[in-house]
Amino acid sequence: MPRDTLLLAVALALGVLAVGLHAQPFDYPSGRPSTSWANTDASLTHHVTFMDGSVARAALLRLNPAGFGPSYAFGFFCTNHGTAAGAGPCNDFLLAVAVVYCNSGALMTSVVAGIPQVVWSANRARPVGEGATVQFTPAGDLVLKATDGTLVWSAGTAGKSVAGISINSDGNLVMVDGTNRTVWQSFDHPTDTLLVGQSLRQGARLTANTSAVNWSESRLYLTVADDSLSAYVDAKPPQRYYHLGFTKAAGAYATYTNGSLTVFAPPAAPLTTVQLPAVGAGTVQYMRLEYDGHLRLYEWRPARWAPVFDVLRLFPDDCAFPTVCGAYGVCTDMQCSCPDAANFRPVDFRRPNRGCVPAAAPASCATPRRAQRLVSLPGLAYFNDHATGLRTLERVSEGACKKACLDDCKCMAAQFIYGADAGDGFCYLQSEVFSLETSLPEVVHYNSTMHLKVQATRTSARII
Ligand SMILES: *[C@@H]1O[C@H](CO)[C@@H](O)[C@H](O)[C@H]1NC(C)=O
Ligand SMILES: *[C@@H]1O[C@H](CO)[C@@H](O)[C@H](O)[C@H]1NC(C)=O
Ligand SMILES: *[C@@H]1O[C@H](CO)[C@@H](O)[C@H](O)[C@H]1NC(C)=O
Ligand SMILES: *[C@@H]1O[C@H](CO)[C@@H](O)[C@H](O)[C@H]1NC(C)=O
Ligand SMILES: *[C@@H]1O[C@H](CO)[C@@H](O)[C@H](O)[C@H]1NC(C)=O
Repeated sequence: MPRDTLLLAVALALGVLAVGLHAQPFDYPSGRPSTSWANTDASLTHHVTFMDGSVARAALLRLNPAGFGPSYAFGFFCTNHGTAAGAGPCNDFLLAVAVVYCNSGALMTSVVAGIPQVVWSANRARPVGEGATVQFTPAGDLVLKATDGTLVWSAGTAGKSVAGISINSDGNLVMVDGTNRTVWQSFDHPTDTLLVGQSLRQGARLTANTSAVNWSESRLYLTVADDSLSAYVDAKPPQRYYHLGFTKAAGAYATYTNGSLTVFAPPAAPLTTVQLPAVGAGTVQYMRLEYDGHLRLYEWRPARWAPVFDVLRLFPDDCAFPTVCGAYGVCTDMQCSCPDAANFRPVDFRRPNRGCVPAAAPASCATPRRAQRLVSLPGLAYFNDHATGLRTLERVSEGACKKACLDDCKCMAAQFIYGADAGDGFCYLQSEVFSLETSLPEVVHYNSTMHLKVQATRTSARII
Protein backbone atom coordinates (compact mmCIF):
# COMPACT_ATOMS: atom_id res chain seq x y z
CA MET A 1 0.00 0.00 0.00
CA PRO A 2 1.48 3.41 -0.93
CA ARG A 3 2.44 5.44 2.15
CA ASP A 4 -0.08 8.22 1.49
CA THR A 5 -2.95 5.76 1.22
CA LEU A 6 -1.85 4.05 4.44
CA LEU A 7 -1.75 7.40 6.27
CA LEU A 8 -5.15 8.25 4.92
CA ALA A 9 -6.52 4.89 6.06
CA VAL A 10 -5.07 5.37 9.55
CA ALA A 11 -6.39 8.92 9.71
CA LEU A 12 -9.83 7.74 8.63
CA ALA A 13 -9.81 4.97 11.22
CA LEU A 14 -8.76 7.40 13.97
CA GLY A 15 -11.28 9.91 12.72
CA VAL A 16 -14.07 7.36 12.88
CA LEU A 17 -12.93 6.38 16.34
CA ALA A 18 -12.72 9.99 17.49
CA VAL A 19 -16.15 10.83 16.09
CA GLY A 20 -17.42 7.61 17.61
CA LEU A 21 -16.02 8.43 21.04
CA HIS A 22 -17.45 11.90 20.88
CA ALA A 23 -20.90 10.72 19.92
CA GLN A 24 -20.93 7.63 22.13
CA PRO A 25 -21.23 8.00 25.86
CA PHE A 26 -21.31 4.16 25.87
CA ASP A 27 -23.20 2.73 28.79
CA TYR A 28 -24.62 5.54 30.96
CA PRO A 29 -27.44 3.93 32.93
CA SER A 30 -27.52 6.20 36.01
CA GLY A 31 -28.17 9.78 37.03
CA ARG A 32 -28.15 11.88 40.20
CA PRO A 33 -30.61 14.51 41.46
CA SER A 34 -30.22 18.07 40.12
CA THR A 35 -30.00 16.87 36.54
CA SER A 36 -32.18 18.12 33.76
CA TRP A 37 -32.62 16.82 30.24
CA ALA A 38 -34.30 18.78 27.45
CA ASN A 39 -36.01 17.15 24.51
CA THR A 40 -33.59 18.59 21.95
CA ASP A 41 -30.75 17.19 19.87
CA ALA A 42 -28.38 19.61 21.63
CA SER A 43 -29.27 18.40 25.13
CA LEU A 44 -29.48 14.70 24.33
CA THR A 45 -26.55 14.20 21.97
CA HIS A 46 -27.17 10.47 21.69
CA HIS A 47 -30.13 10.76 19.34
CA VAL A 48 -31.25 8.95 16.24
CA THR A 49 -33.90 9.50 13.57
CA PHE A 50 -35.19 6.23 12.16
CA MET A 51 -36.22 5.45 8.58
CA ASP A 52 -39.94 5.72 9.42
CA GLY A 53 -39.41 9.17 10.97
CA SER A 54 -39.37 7.92 14.59
CA VAL A 55 -36.94 9.72 16.89
CA ALA A 56 -35.08 8.40 19.96
CA ARG A 57 -33.21 10.73 22.31
CA ALA A 58 -31.57 8.89 25.19
CA ALA A 59 -31.04 10.42 28.62
CA LEU A 60 -29.94 7.12 30.20
CA LEU A 61 -28.87 3.97 28.38
CA ARG A 62 -28.26 0.46 29.69
CA LEU A 63 -26.34 -1.43 27.06
CA ASN A 64 -27.18 -5.11 26.56
CA PRO A 65 -24.77 -7.11 28.81
CA ALA A 66 -23.44 -8.79 25.65
CA GLY A 67 -22.01 -5.41 24.62
CA PHE A 68 -24.43 -4.98 21.74
CA GLY A 69 -28.01 -5.94 20.83
CA PRO A 70 -31.39 -4.87 22.18
CA SER A 71 -30.79 -2.44 25.06
CA TYR A 72 -32.94 -0.21 27.28
CA ALA A 73 -32.99 3.56 27.02
CA PHE A 74 -34.83 6.16 29.08
CA GLY A 75 -35.50 9.44 27.35
CA PHE A 76 -37.76 11.04 24.79
CA PHE A 77 -39.27 8.92 22.02
CA CYS A 78 -41.51 9.75 19.10
CA THR A 79 -42.57 6.50 17.43
CA ASN A 80 -45.10 5.08 14.95
CA HIS A 81 -44.60 8.31 13.17
CA GLY A 82 -44.66 7.02 9.61
CA THR A 83 -48.07 5.48 10.21
CA ALA A 84 -49.72 8.82 11.01
CA ALA A 85 -51.50 10.37 8.04
CA GLY A 86 -49.51 13.18 6.44
CA ALA A 87 -46.61 12.79 8.85
CA GLY A 88 -44.47 15.91 9.19
CA PRO A 89 -41.56 16.26 11.63
CA CYS A 90 -41.93 14.01 14.65
CA ASN A 91 -43.40 16.13 17.42
CA ASP A 92 -45.35 13.81 19.73
CA PHE A 93 -42.81 12.65 22.27
CA LEU A 94 -43.25 10.28 25.16
CA LEU A 95 -41.01 10.39 28.19
CA ALA A 96 -40.44 6.67 28.13
CA VAL A 97 -38.39 3.53 28.51
CA ALA A 98 -37.86 1.88 25.14
CA VAL A 99 -35.92 -1.04 23.73
CA VAL A 100 -33.38 0.27 21.23
CA TYR A 101 -30.89 -1.70 19.20
CA CYS A 102 -27.25 -0.83 19.91
CA ASN A 103 -24.19 -1.85 17.92
CA SER A 104 -20.89 -2.92 19.49
CA GLY A 105 -19.96 0.74 19.89
CA ALA A 106 -23.09 1.22 22.05
CA LEU A 107 -24.63 3.47 19.42
CA MET A 108 -28.37 3.28 18.83
CA THR A 109 -28.60 1.95 15.33
CA SER A 110 -30.59 -0.31 12.98
CA VAL A 111 -32.59 2.63 11.65
CA VAL A 112 -34.78 0.47 9.44
CA ALA A 113 -35.85 -2.47 11.63
CA GLY A 114 -34.84 -1.30 15.10
CA ILE A 115 -37.65 1.22 15.64
CA PRO A 116 -37.68 1.93 19.41
CA GLN A 117 -40.25 -0.19 21.23
CA VAL A 118 -41.83 1.85 24.03
CA VAL A 119 -42.35 -0.44 27.04
CA TRP A 120 -43.25 2.18 29.67
CA SER A 121 -44.21 5.82 29.38
CA ALA A 122 -45.07 8.66 31.74
CA ASN A 123 -47.34 10.69 29.48
CA ARG A 124 -49.10 8.39 27.00
CA ALA A 125 -52.20 10.57 26.75
CA ARG A 126 -50.27 13.87 26.73
CA PRO A 127 -47.30 13.71 24.37
CA VAL A 128 -44.85 16.61 24.63
CA GLY A 129 -43.05 18.56 21.92
CA GLU A 130 -39.57 19.72 21.01
CA GLY A 131 -37.94 21.50 23.96
CA ALA A 132 -39.97 19.79 26.71
CA THR A 133 -37.88 19.00 29.79
CA VAL A 134 -37.54 16.28 32.36
CA GLN A 135 -35.96 17.35 35.63
CA PHE A 136 -34.54 15.04 38.23
CA THR A 137 -35.00 17.68 40.92
CA PRO A 138 -32.73 18.35 43.92
CA ALA A 139 -35.64 17.07 46.08
CA GLY A 140 -35.55 13.74 44.20
CA ASP A 141 -38.67 14.03 42.08
CA LEU A 142 -38.81 13.27 38.38
CA VAL A 143 -40.82 16.03 36.72
CA LEU A 144 -41.91 16.31 33.09
CA LYS A 145 -42.77 19.75 31.74
CA ALA A 146 -44.15 20.62 28.33
CA THR A 147 -42.40 23.09 26.02
CA ASP A 148 -44.38 25.98 27.56
CA GLY A 149 -43.39 24.90 31.08
CA THR A 150 -46.70 23.36 32.14
CA LEU A 151 -46.43 20.35 34.41
CA VAL A 152 -47.34 17.17 32.53
CA TRP A 153 -46.32 14.42 34.94
CA SER A 154 -44.26 13.78 38.05
CA ALA A 155 -43.27 10.61 39.89
CA GLY A 156 -44.25 12.17 43.24
CA THR A 157 -41.00 11.21 44.94
CA ALA A 158 -39.97 14.65 46.29
CA GLY A 159 -38.73 14.48 49.89
CA LYS A 160 -38.40 10.68 49.83
CA SER A 161 -34.59 10.71 50.09
CA VAL A 162 -34.08 9.75 46.46
CA ALA A 163 -30.35 9.64 45.73
CA GLY A 164 -30.21 8.23 42.23
CA ILE A 165 -32.04 7.01 39.15
CA SER A 166 -31.03 4.18 36.88
CA ILE A 167 -32.30 2.06 34.07
CA ASN A 168 -31.63 -1.58 34.96
CA SER A 169 -30.68 -4.42 32.64
CA ASP A 170 -34.27 -5.77 32.83
CA GLY A 171 -35.71 -2.44 31.60
CA ASN A 172 -36.93 -1.30 35.03
CA LEU A 173 -36.44 2.45 35.63
CA VAL A 174 -35.65 2.71 39.33
CA MET A 175 -35.19 5.56 41.81
CA VAL A 176 -33.28 4.55 44.94
CA ASP A 177 -32.36 6.20 48.25
CA GLY A 178 -28.90 6.44 49.84
CA THR A 179 -29.10 2.85 51.06
CA ASN A 180 -30.00 1.59 47.57
CA ARG A 181 -33.60 0.93 48.63
CA THR A 182 -36.15 1.27 45.80
CA VAL A 183 -38.37 4.34 46.28
CA TRP A 184 -40.09 4.23 42.88
CA GLN A 185 -39.89 1.89 39.89
CA SER A 186 -41.53 1.89 36.49
CA PHE A 187 -42.33 -1.84 36.95
CA ASP A 188 -44.95 -0.79 39.55
CA HIS A 189 -46.71 1.48 37.04
CA PRO A 190 -47.23 -0.62 33.91
CA THR A 191 -48.81 1.06 30.88
CA ASP A 192 -49.69 -1.50 28.20
CA THR A 193 -46.55 -3.65 28.42
CA LEU A 194 -44.86 -6.16 30.71
CA LEU A 195 -41.17 -7.07 30.55
CA VAL A 196 -39.62 -10.35 31.66
CA GLY A 197 -39.29 -10.17 35.45
CA GLN A 198 -42.15 -7.71 35.82
CA SER A 199 -45.29 -8.49 37.83
CA LEU A 200 -48.87 -7.34 37.43
CA ARG A 201 -50.07 -6.74 40.98
CA GLN A 202 -53.59 -6.18 42.22
CA GLY A 203 -54.67 -2.63 41.56
CA ALA A 204 -52.37 -2.38 38.55
CA ARG A 205 -53.65 -2.74 35.00
CA LEU A 206 -52.35 -3.11 31.51
CA THR A 207 -54.48 -0.73 29.48
CA ALA A 208 -54.41 -0.94 25.70
CA ASN A 209 -53.81 1.98 23.36
CA THR A 210 -56.81 3.45 21.60
CA SER A 211 -55.27 2.64 18.20
CA ALA A 212 -51.90 2.16 16.55
CA VAL A 213 -51.55 5.94 16.22
CA ASN A 214 -53.47 7.13 19.27
CA TRP A 215 -51.69 6.14 22.45
CA SER A 216 -54.39 7.32 24.85
CA GLU A 217 -55.82 4.63 27.06
CA SER A 218 -58.64 2.67 25.46
CA ARG A 219 -61.36 0.81 27.34
CA LEU A 220 -59.61 -2.58 27.19
CA TYR A 221 -57.61 -3.68 30.21
CA LEU A 222 -56.05 -6.70 31.89
CA THR A 223 -56.06 -7.10 35.65
CA VAL A 224 -55.46 -9.61 38.46
CA ALA A 225 -57.90 -10.31 41.30
CA ASP A 226 -57.75 -12.78 44.22
CA ASP A 227 -59.23 -15.52 42.06
CA SER A 228 -58.60 -14.65 38.41
CA LEU A 229 -56.57 -13.01 35.71
CA SER A 230 -59.11 -11.24 33.54
CA ALA A 231 -59.45 -8.91 30.60
CA TYR A 232 -62.33 -6.49 30.33
CA VAL A 233 -63.84 -3.83 28.16
CA ASP A 234 -64.71 -0.95 30.45
CA ALA A 235 -68.48 -0.36 30.53
CA LYS A 236 -70.98 0.13 33.34
CA PRO A 237 -70.50 -2.55 34.62
CA PRO A 238 -67.28 -3.78 32.89
CA GLN A 239 -67.78 -6.71 30.48
CA ARG A 240 -65.26 -9.53 30.76
CA TYR A 241 -63.80 -11.16 27.64
CA TYR A 242 -61.00 -13.27 29.10
CA HIS A 243 -60.89 -15.17 32.36
CA LEU A 244 -58.26 -17.45 33.88
CA GLY A 245 -59.53 -18.66 37.23
CA PHE A 246 -57.42 -20.08 40.07
CA THR A 247 -57.72 -21.02 43.75
CA LYS A 248 -58.55 -17.84 45.62
CA ALA A 249 -55.56 -16.24 47.37
CA ALA A 250 -55.44 -12.75 48.89
CA GLY A 251 -53.02 -10.53 46.99
CA ALA A 252 -52.44 -12.94 44.09
CA TYR A 253 -50.21 -11.45 41.39
CA ALA A 254 -48.97 -12.46 37.93
CA THR A 255 -45.29 -12.50 36.96
CA TYR A 256 -43.88 -12.67 33.46
CA THR A 257 -40.85 -14.94 33.49
CA ASN A 258 -38.70 -16.51 30.81
CA GLY A 259 -41.17 -19.08 29.45
CA SER A 260 -44.34 -18.34 31.39
CA LEU A 261 -46.90 -15.97 32.80
CA THR A 262 -47.38 -17.38 36.29
CA VAL A 263 -49.86 -16.37 38.97
CA PHE A 264 -48.52 -16.54 42.53
CA ALA A 265 -50.10 -16.41 45.99
CA PRO A 266 -47.91 -14.25 48.24
CA PRO A 267 -45.13 -14.71 49.00
CA ALA A 268 -44.41 -16.96 46.00
CA ALA A 269 -46.59 -20.09 45.73
CA PRO A 270 -47.49 -20.73 42.08
CA LEU A 271 -51.25 -21.00 41.47
CA THR A 272 -51.46 -21.30 37.70
CA THR A 273 -49.29 -20.86 34.66
CA VAL A 274 -49.68 -19.89 31.03
CA GLN A 275 -46.77 -21.39 29.07
CA LEU A 276 -44.97 -18.98 26.73
CA PRO A 277 -42.14 -19.41 24.23
CA ALA A 278 -38.76 -19.09 26.02
CA VAL A 279 -36.75 -15.91 25.54
CA GLY A 280 -33.91 -16.46 23.09
CA ALA A 281 -30.44 -16.11 24.63
CA GLY A 282 -29.17 -12.53 24.55
CA THR A 283 -32.38 -11.09 23.18
CA VAL A 284 -35.39 -9.21 24.55
CA GLN A 285 -39.05 -10.14 24.72
CA TYR A 286 -42.03 -8.10 25.86
CA MET A 287 -45.79 -8.61 26.19
CA ARG A 288 -48.22 -5.87 25.18
CA LEU A 289 -51.99 -5.53 25.50
CA GLU A 290 -52.89 -4.08 22.13
CA TYR A 291 -55.75 -1.97 20.86
CA ASP A 292 -57.52 -5.05 19.47
CA GLY A 293 -57.57 -6.69 22.92
CA HIS A 294 -54.87 -9.26 22.12
CA LEU A 295 -51.97 -9.70 24.56
CA ARG A 296 -49.07 -10.27 22.19
CA LEU A 297 -45.52 -11.37 22.84
CA TYR A 298 -42.79 -9.75 20.74
CA GLU A 299 -39.16 -10.77 20.50
CA TRP A 300 -36.16 -9.19 18.79
CA ARG A 301 -35.12 -11.87 16.31
CA PRO A 302 -32.05 -10.51 14.63
CA ALA A 303 -32.76 -8.30 12.96
CA ARG A 304 -36.42 -7.46 13.45
CA TRP A 305 -39.24 -7.39 16.01
CA ALA A 306 -41.41 -10.46 15.53
CA PRO A 307 -44.79 -11.26 17.14
CA VAL A 308 -44.15 -14.72 18.61
CA PHE A 309 -47.23 -15.55 20.67
CA ASP A 310 -50.85 -14.59 21.34
CA VAL A 311 -51.34 -15.04 25.09
CA LEU A 312 -55.15 -14.77 25.52
CA ARG A 313 -56.92 -17.74 23.93
CA LEU A 314 -60.66 -17.10 23.64
CA PHE A 315 -63.54 -19.52 23.31
CA PRO A 316 -64.86 -20.41 20.81
CA ASP A 317 -62.47 -18.37 18.62
CA ASP A 318 -61.02 -14.90 17.97
CA CYS A 319 -64.49 -13.58 17.07
CA ALA A 320 -64.88 -13.33 20.86
CA PHE A 321 -62.65 -10.24 21.11
CA PRO A 322 -64.96 -7.41 22.15
CA THR A 323 -63.99 -4.84 19.54
CA VAL A 324 -63.13 -7.18 16.65
CA CYS A 325 -65.95 -5.84 14.45
CA GLY A 326 -66.70 -2.57 16.26
CA ALA A 327 -69.91 -1.80 18.15
CA TYR A 328 -72.92 -3.75 16.79
CA GLY A 329 -70.67 -5.44 14.18
CA VAL A 330 -71.10 -9.19 13.70
CA CYS A 331 -68.02 -11.42 13.49
CA THR A 332 -68.29 -14.61 11.43
CA ASP A 333 -65.08 -16.55 10.65
CA MET A 334 -63.19 -13.29 11.33
CA GLN A 335 -65.25 -11.40 8.72
CA CYS A 336 -67.36 -8.43 9.82
CA SER A 337 -70.89 -7.52 8.77
CA CYS A 338 -73.93 -5.74 10.17
CA PRO A 339 -76.73 -7.58 12.01
CA ASP A 340 -79.57 -6.97 9.57
CA ALA A 341 -79.87 -4.53 6.72
CA ALA A 342 -83.32 -3.31 7.69
CA ASN A 343 -82.27 -2.08 11.11
CA PHE A 344 -78.50 -1.46 10.99
CA ARG A 345 -76.00 0.14 8.65
CA PRO A 346 -72.19 0.17 8.65
CA VAL A 347 -70.35 3.18 10.12
CA ASP A 348 -68.04 3.07 7.09
CA PHE A 349 -68.99 0.92 4.08
CA ARG A 350 -65.35 0.43 3.11
CA ARG A 351 -64.26 -0.62 6.60
CA PRO A 352 -66.69 -3.26 7.93
CA ASN A 353 -64.64 -3.66 11.13
CA ARG A 354 -65.58 -0.13 12.25
CA GLY A 355 -68.95 -1.37 13.43
CA CYS A 356 -72.57 -0.55 12.74
CA VAL A 357 -75.24 1.85 13.95
CA PRO A 358 -78.95 1.24 14.38
CA ALA A 359 -80.79 2.93 11.50
CA ALA A 360 -83.09 4.49 14.10
CA ALA A 361 -80.61 5.73 16.75
CA PRO A 362 -79.75 3.43 19.69
CA ALA A 363 -82.11 3.86 22.61
CA SER A 364 -80.98 5.30 25.93
CA CYS A 365 -82.46 6.11 29.35
CA ALA A 366 -83.61 9.40 27.81
CA THR A 367 -85.79 7.48 25.33
CA PRO A 368 -89.37 7.03 26.61
CA ARG A 369 -90.32 3.41 27.19
CA ARG A 370 -92.94 3.52 24.42
CA ALA A 371 -90.33 4.69 21.89
CA GLN A 372 -88.06 1.69 22.49
CA ARG A 373 -88.13 -1.66 20.81
CA LEU A 374 -85.99 -4.76 20.49
CA VAL A 375 -84.59 -6.09 17.24
CA SER A 376 -84.42 -9.89 17.66
CA LEU A 377 -81.58 -11.71 15.94
CA PRO A 378 -81.64 -15.53 16.22
CA GLY A 379 -78.27 -17.19 15.63
CA LEU A 380 -76.24 -14.32 17.07
CA ALA A 381 -74.19 -14.49 20.27
CA TYR A 382 -72.07 -12.18 22.42
CA PHE A 383 -68.47 -12.36 23.61
CA ASN A 384 -69.27 -11.66 27.25
CA ASP A 385 -68.41 -14.65 29.41
CA HIS A 386 -71.75 -14.41 31.29
CA ALA A 387 -70.23 -13.81 34.73
CA THR A 388 -70.36 -10.05 34.22
CA GLY A 389 -72.91 -7.72 32.70
CA LEU A 390 -75.88 -5.74 33.93
CA ARG A 391 -77.95 -8.70 35.17
CA THR A 392 -78.53 -12.44 34.71
CA LEU A 393 -81.88 -14.24 34.81
CA GLU A 394 -81.80 -18.02 35.11
CA ARG A 395 -84.43 -20.50 33.87
CA VAL A 396 -86.67 -17.96 32.16
CA SER A 397 -88.58 -17.79 28.89
CA GLU A 398 -87.45 -15.67 25.97
CA GLY A 399 -90.46 -13.37 26.57
CA ALA A 400 -89.39 -12.78 30.19
CA CYS A 401 -85.86 -12.02 29.00
CA LYS A 402 -87.06 -9.40 26.51
CA LYS A 403 -89.36 -7.83 29.06
CA ALA A 404 -86.53 -7.58 31.60
CA CYS A 405 -84.47 -5.62 29.07
CA LEU A 406 -87.33 -3.33 28.07
CA ASP A 407 -88.15 -2.70 31.75
CA ASP A 408 -84.58 -1.56 32.50
CA CYS A 409 -83.68 1.66 30.70
CA LYS A 410 -79.95 0.85 31.14
CA CYS A 411 -80.30 -2.42 29.21
CA MET A 412 -79.12 -2.05 25.60
CA ALA A 413 -79.04 -5.75 24.70
CA ALA A 414 -80.27 -9.08 26.00
CA GLN A 415 -78.74 -12.41 25.09
CA PHE A 416 -81.04 -15.39 25.45
CA ILE A 417 -79.37 -18.78 25.43
CA TYR A 418 -81.19 -22.12 25.52
CA GLY A 419 -80.90 -25.78 24.63
CA ALA A 420 -83.69 -27.78 23.02
CA ASP A 421 -86.43 -25.92 24.95
CA ALA A 422 -86.79 -22.28 23.93
CA GLY A 423 -89.13 -21.71 26.88
CA ASP A 424 -86.40 -22.38 29.43
CA GLY A 425 -83.12 -20.53 29.09
CA PHE A 426 -80.66 -18.03 30.51
CA CYS A 427 -80.86 -14.31 29.95
CA TYR A 428 -77.93 -11.90 30.11
CA LEU A 429 -78.50 -8.14 30.01
CA GLN A 430 -75.81 -5.71 28.82
CA SER A 431 -75.61 -1.95 29.31
CA GLU A 432 -73.63 -1.39 26.13
CA VAL A 433 -73.14 -3.32 22.90
CA PHE A 434 -69.67 -4.14 21.57
CA SER A 435 -68.99 -6.76 18.88
CA LEU A 436 -71.45 -9.58 18.25
CA GLU A 437 -70.61 -12.99 16.83
CA THR A 438 -72.39 -15.66 14.84
CA SER A 439 -73.45 -18.37 17.25
CA LEU A 440 -71.75 -21.77 16.91
CA PRO A 441 -74.26 -24.17 18.61
CA GLU A 442 -72.29 -27.33 17.72
CA VAL A 443 -69.21 -25.91 19.45
CA VAL A 444 -70.68 -24.09 22.46
CA HIS A 445 -73.64 -26.51 22.94
CA TYR A 446 -76.40 -23.92 23.21
CA ASN A 447 -78.59 -21.81 20.95
CA SER A 448 -78.36 -18.04 21.21
CA THR A 449 -80.53 -15.09 20.19
CA MET A 450 -79.55 -11.44 20.62
CA HIS A 451 -82.20 -8.80 21.29
CA LEU A 452 -80.85 -5.31 20.60
CA LYS A 453 -82.63 -2.22 21.86
CA VAL A 454 -83.20 0.57 19.34
CA GLN A 455 -85.44 3.60 19.09
CA ALA A 456 -88.74 2.80 17.50
CA THR A 457 -89.25 4.77 14.31
CA ARG A 458 -92.54 6.75 14.21
CA THR A 459 -94.29 4.24 12.02
CA SER A 460 -93.12 1.21 13.98
CA ALA A 461 -93.55 2.76 17.45
CA ARG A 462 -95.41 0.31 19.58
CA ILE A 463 -94.92 -1.49 22.82
CA ILE A 464 -93.61 -5.02 22.42
C1 LIG B 1 -49.13 2.33 21.62
O1 LIG B 1 -49.11 1.39 20.59
C2 LIG B 1 -48.03 1.52 19.75
C3 LIG B 1 -48.25 0.54 18.63
O2 LIG B 1 -49.04 -0.51 19.01
C4 LIG B 1 -46.73 1.27 20.51
O3 LIG B 1 -45.61 1.45 19.69
C5 LIG B 1 -46.62 2.20 21.67
O4 LIG B 1 -45.57 1.81 22.46
C6 LIG B 1 -47.88 2.19 22.46
N1 LIG B 1 -47.83 3.31 23.35
C7 LIG B 1 -47.75 3.22 24.65
C8 LIG B 1 -47.77 4.46 25.43
O5 LIG B 1 -47.68 2.16 25.23
C1 LIG C 1 -28.21 -1.47 44.16
O1 LIG C 1 -29.04 -2.61 43.99
C2 LIG C 1 -28.97 -3.21 42.72
C3 LIG C 1 -29.90 -4.38 42.68
O2 LIG C 1 -30.99 -4.24 43.51
C4 LIG C 1 -27.55 -3.66 42.44
O3 LIG C 1 -27.50 -4.18 41.13
C5 LIG C 1 -26.60 -2.47 42.56
O4 LIG C 1 -25.29 -2.92 42.40
C6 LIG C 1 -26.76 -1.83 43.91
N1 LIG C 1 -25.94 -0.62 43.93
C7 LIG C 1 -25.15 -0.31 44.95
C8 LIG C 1 -24.41 0.97 44.83
O5 LIG C 1 -25.04 -1.02 45.92
C1 LIG D 1 -57.50 9.36 21.05
O1 LIG D 1 -58.44 8.53 21.70
C2 LIG D 1 -59.21 9.16 22.71
C3 LIG D 1 -60.16 8.17 23.34
O2 LIG D 1 -59.60 6.96 23.63
C4 LIG D 1 -60.00 10.31 22.13
O3 LIG D 1 -60.67 10.99 23.17
C5 LIG D 1 -59.06 11.27 21.41
O4 LIG D 1 -59.82 12.26 20.75
C6 LIG D 1 -58.20 10.54 20.38
N1 LIG D 1 -57.24 11.44 19.81
C7 LIG D 1 -57.11 11.61 18.51
C8 LIG D 1 -56.07 12.57 18.07
O5 LIG D 1 -57.80 11.00 17.70
C1 LIG E 1 -34.76 -18.65 28.72
O1 LIG E 1 -34.78 -20.02 29.07
C2 LIG E 1 -34.23 -20.88 28.08
C3 LIG E 1 -34.35 -22.30 28.59
O2 LIG E 1 -35.62 -22.58 29.04
C4 LIG E 1 -32.79 -20.54 27.85
O3 LIG E 1 -32.27 -21.35 26.80
C5 LIG E 1 -32.67 -19.08 27.43
O4 LIG E 1 -31.31 -18.71 27.32
C6 LIG E 1 -33.33 -18.19 28.49
N1 LIG E 1 -33.31 -16.83 27.99
C7 LIG E 1 -32.71 -15.84 28.64
C8 LIG E 1 -32.77 -14.50 28.00
O5 LIG E 1 -32.14 -15.99 29.69
C1 LIG F 1 -81.20 -25.55 19.33
O1 LIG F 1 -82.62 -25.56 19.22
C2 LIG F 1 -83.15 -26.64 18.47
C3 LIG F 1 -84.66 -26.51 18.37
O2 LIG F 1 -85.09 -25.24 18.66
C4 LIG F 1 -82.81 -27.95 19.11
O3 LIG F 1 -83.28 -29.03 18.34
C5 LIG F 1 -81.30 -28.05 19.26
O4 LIG F 1 -80.96 -29.22 19.99
C6 LIG F 1 -80.74 -26.84 19.99
N1 LIG F 1 -79.27 -26.89 19.94
C7 LIG F 1 -78.50 -26.94 21.03
C8 LIG F 1 -77.03 -27.04 20.79
O5 LIG F 1 -78.95 -26.89 22.15
